Amino acid sequence: MRMRKKKHGAERIEACAELLIRDISTLKGGYASVFPDEKPLHLEIGCGKGNFAVGMAKKYPDVNFIAMERVADVCCIALEKAMADKEERPTDNLRFLIGDAKLLRENVLPHSLDCIYLNFSDPWPKAGHAKRRLTHRGFLEIYKGLLKEDGILRFKTDNVGLFDFSLEEFEEFGTELLFLTRDLHSTEKNADNVMTEYEKNFSDKGTPICSAWIRFKQ
Ligand SMILES: C[S@@+](CC[C@H](N)C(=O)[O-])C[C@H]1O[C@@H](n2cnc3c(N)ncnc32)[C@H](O)[C@@H]1O
Repeated sequence: MRMRKKKHGAERIEACAELLIRDISTLKGGYASVFPDEKPLHLEIGCGKGNFAVGMAKKYPDVNFIAMERVADVCCIALEKAMADKEERPTDNLRFLIGDAKLLRENVLPHSLDCIYLNFSDPWPKAGHAKRRLTHRGFLEIYKGLLKEDGILRFKTDNVGLFDFSLEEFEEFGTELLFLTRDLHSTEKNADNVMTEYEKNFSDKGTPICSAWIRFKQ
């Protein structure tokens, strides 16, 4: 997602500071300082402009959500969306992290997450860039370390090449496939599906959405 640098980006992010986890390393010690109540914890990596995270936090008040995005200007839009939503309803279950998924390994309490979402991750189509794909085995190793034993990774994408690559990585890494579709919106899971910005754009154009849910073998 390429964006022009946002004017007054830092001030705009500061205005949403109450929803921001400023220092990722605070997560090493758990979540008591981040959320007022202890609840199952879900993490979205690459949240973009925040539709999914805001929609999920609203739909599932009994779950705490962290939405992570490495581009500060993109996260700024997500933060402002969440702040606007906050005016309509009390929300204590959504926080944002600005940073790269690579930082999770060193900074997050091991086996503390119930679910990780990867939504429309960048496909990095060149073979030489495969390690950057968020479903590459290098990242799967990080996710395995973060998820509880029965935790789930949920992935959706429009990109068939990335989907096929990801299924191979999931199998070779050692995972149990819980759900697989190449047309999410025509499955029963669609009733509970919260769309992302990319998902809406692609499905408006008639592109089917692929999705897989996996659990790591222990
Ligand atoms: C194609 S966009 C999809 C955005 C959103 N999930 C959606 O479906 O509308 C991918 C997003 O993931 C973010 N991203 C890519 N690699 C990342 C990483 N290693 N750590 C955190 N965010 C990442 C990008 O900055 C971008 O905003």
